[in-house]
Amino acid sequence: MFDRNQQIRWVIKPAIFMLALIPLAILIYRALTNDLGANPIETINRYTGDWVLRFLMLTLAVTPLRRLTGWNGLLRYRRMLGLFAFFYACLHFLSYAWLDQYFVLADIIKDVIKRPYITVGFASFLMLIPLALTSTNAMIRRLGAKRWQQLHRLVYLIGIGGVVHFLWLVKSDIREPLVYGVVLALLLGFRLWDRRRRTPDVIPSGAVR
Ligand code: HEM
Repeated sequence: MFDRNQQIRWVIKPAIFMLALIPLAILIYRALTNDLGANPIETINRYTGDWVLRFLMLTLAVTPLRRLTGWNGLLRYRRMLGLFAFFYACLHFLSYAWLDQYFVLADIIKDVIKRPYITVGFASFLMLIPLALTSTNAMIRRLGAKRWQQLHRLVYLIGIGGVVHFLWLVKSDIREPLVYGVVLALLLGFRLWDRRRRTPDVIPSGAVR
């Protein structure tokens, strides 16, 4: 009935879209049922922060999974995962700027300058913006594949920034940010290993070994 492209467009992508909205639905449900604990602002902020990092990791996992399994079709879902990382980052920033800082710009600027973990989180958020804006096919064409790829390498820095932000904000128990750090190291390390593996060694004479 459906060919493969139609299946992806009308079934698989909408299913992933709905799945990616479940964390938000759970948060809304918890808010409506007064289930956000003693400090609802902190809960919302931390919950959305966790999901930014999870979607970033999922986005970064696409290439390694694709290389390891040979399943190139995975690439079709990477943009959506990256945009959901941005979506949750917007909610995370909004929860901070609105619920924590009451949209007082001067206080936000002071905080960004004064607290290193906020500085790093904010820088990562700013870097996500050009990636989201250039995620369309039209922008890929406009920039050209090479420049687009170079720009989108920022995602590695964003991932590192996200983990450092988390590491800096926890007071004593660093286990959770460390787990993200190890996952990120594996995902980025795989890329380095894969690139080395696929680039033939060049000996001084210029001949390829
Ligand atoms: C890519 C960008 C970002 C990522 C990946 C990220 C991720 C996270 C994570 C994982 C947490 C901790 C959640 C937990 O405790 O379980 C967190 C907390 C937090 N983030 Fe972010 N964040 C980002 C951007 C920002 C920005 C732009 C701001 C504000 C300007 C911000 C402010 C905060 C604050 C205030 C907390 C809670 C700190 C606390 O409760 O002590 N984050 N973030």
